[in-house]
Amino acid sequence: MATESGNTIEALLEEQRVFPSPEEFAKNAHVNADDIFAQAAADPEAFWASVAEELHWFKKWDQVLDESDPPFFKWFVGGKLNITHNCLDRHLTSWRRNKAAIIWEGEPGDQVVLTYYDLWREVSKFANALKGLGVKKGDRVTLYMGMVPELAIAMLACARIGAPHSIVFGGFSAEALADRINDAQGNVLVTCDGGWRRGGIVPLKQMADEAVERCPTIESVVVVKRIGDEASIEMQEGRDHWWHELMESAGLRCEPEEMDAEDMLYILYTSGTTGKPKGIVHTTGGYSTQTYLTTKWVFDMKDDDVYWCTADIGWVTGHSYIIYGPLQNGATTVMYEGAPDFPGRDRFWDIVEKYGITILYTAPTAIRAFMRWGDEYPAMHDMSSLRLLGSVGEPINPEAWIWYHTNIGGERCPIVDTWWQTETGAILITPLPGYTATKPGSATKTFPGISAAIFDEAGNVVPEGGGYLVLQRPWPSMLRTIYGDPERFKEQYWSRYPGVYFTGDGAKIDADGYFWVLGRVDDVMNVAGHRLSTMEIESALVDHQSVAEAAVIGKTHELKGQAVSAFVLLKEGIDPGDTLLDELKKHVAQKIGPIARPDDIFFTADLPKTRSGKIMRRLLRDVAEGRALGDTTTLLDANVVDNLRGQYEDSEG
Ligand code: WTA
Repeated sequence: MATESGNTIEALLEEQRVFPSPEEFAKNAHVNADDIFAQAAADPEAFWASVAEELHWFKKWDQVLDESDPPFFKWFVGGKLNITHNCLDRHLTSWRRNKAAIIWEGEPGDQVVLTYYDLWREVSKFANALKGLGVKKGDRVTLYMGMVPELAIAMLACARIGAPHSIVFGGFSAEALADRINDAQGNVLVTCDGGWRRGGIVPLKQMADEAVERCPTIESVVVVKRIGDEASIEMQEGRDHWWHELMESAGLRCEPEEMDAEDMLYILYTSGTTGKPKGIVHTTGGYSTQTYLTTKWVFDMKDDDVYWCTADIGWVTGHSYIIYGPLQNGATTVMYEGAPDFPGRDRFWDIVEKYGITILYTAPTAIRAFMRWGDEYPAMHDMSSLRLLGSVGEPINPEAWIWYHTNIGGERCPIVDTWWQTETGAILITPLPGYTATKPGSATKTFPGISAAIFDEAGNVVPEGGGYLVLQRPWPSMLRTIYGDPERFKEQYWSRYPGVYFTGDGAKIDADGYFWVLGRVDDVMNVAGHRLSTMEIESALVDHQSVAEAAVIGKTHELKGQAVSAFVLLKEGIDPGDTLLDELKKHVAQKIGPIARPDDIFFTADLPKTRSGKIMRRLLRDVAEGRALGDTTTLLDANVVDNLRGQYEDSEG
């Protein structure tokens, strides 16, 4: 099976060792026996209901799962709650009131610690500030910020008053931001005067200004002062408000809105198989329940843990596992603003030592970079506080797994390789530390109460072997729809195998029932753990005046997993050259964001197409990666690929 990442079972299986859960760890772990799995499998609804009981509800639900209108499933029907009550208020009546909720480290080394009480106070005040700007329950608020404490405060403030947040990653361009604001249609945008990245300033406010010009619904822009004078921004009278000024006059008390379990909590845009990003919709009750439990069990979260997830809150991992999951558990969650190599390549390990991090959750792309930089950087620091390691975002190659285990985990920390998606809201396939024996490269088995399988083309279960990863039963934190486009929701996820959720991932199941996720089988790439759509980048390229046609693929890359590689057909009479090449790369960065900038662009006179005119990206991948060509029976003109390959090899030198 061909996957977007070009991973093969053979490569994964070179590492054959199995790592049992360390006995010491198992002794005190939340989960260390298998009866939980059996119970959950026997009656998943009862299982999830018992988890939901651990949270605070203003009113208990009448029905756990409503399956009457598939695929529009509803969980905890009739229940009323507010996730911020579970993240904040609930902890104020215990000793946790003065416990650190968020420890924030700025890139330049500045630091902020917010206790649960502090966070509750700031959230309540900003919730009132939002109300003052006219935001009401149900209104969407876009957040376009760096990794600053105000981002956490703003998202929780939205949730407090029932205004769904739509967080747009600070690395996206003005244009990408405008598209997302216009899709969500809110009146308020929250941003920063800028962000720090490797000592430079990310001009968030300038980009926001540019975006808002194209967004007729935006009436107010709130600006956090992160940089100060150096940012040299302009505040537009009447539209722009400084965060700190709004906060000065905001009232301290803001009762949480009683949200229906199925009221929208947030929208998060992600790349799909078409050029247009999808607004993934998550609701309140099921999402609260599943992020709460997965955080507790997968990370074995205890009150004395210092937990650090290195993701950006602009992605789903930050939503579920920096903010909502950890705070519902009353945990201490660490947030870091900057890059892993600034000011030095030991920055992460410096933070681990400084705060005594016990649980670290990061991405394979980062681990591969650390590996390449060398063992000496982690060795500079005392990392004996670590007791558990996590991985997310893409398949982890066994070599990186072993390096992580040895150099970061000191061979004593279990590794949880967690598979999930923006759409799933929470972790679905993962080891439970203290229980599951791990195999490097495998996310192991489903979380209790979840059922996944491998299907073949025809929709038969593959008991052992490769195929498509599907989810057979609804789960509490599942996406409810694509914002404003229920048809696309049905089409995208529920049409390939009727009644079954199609993940878009290719995977294999082995004789022990372990899942090995290989990568996307659709036109979605995974570049340094970020999801990008080939079509979105192709549209950006074709948007340039010199380009007639473009095909984009994810080419296997040692560090990033995949790199963006583009094949471009120029318009008649346009000369290719290095200047144009740079211009096109810049053009893509400007249209989408620096993360989408192609690593290489190859000018060609033709693209391999099927007889029905579809570009055969798979063949382009074979060309780019120098592999023997796969199946070419549907190719219209075999010469195209031969010519292309010849030219490509020449250009690579
Ligand atoms: C991939 C990130 C292998 C997969 C939470 C999925 C993984 C996509 C893993 C979702 C893993 C995520 N092993 N592949 N542990 N975790 N993926 O929406 O292809 O940004 O479909 O969510 O990342 O990416 P997303």
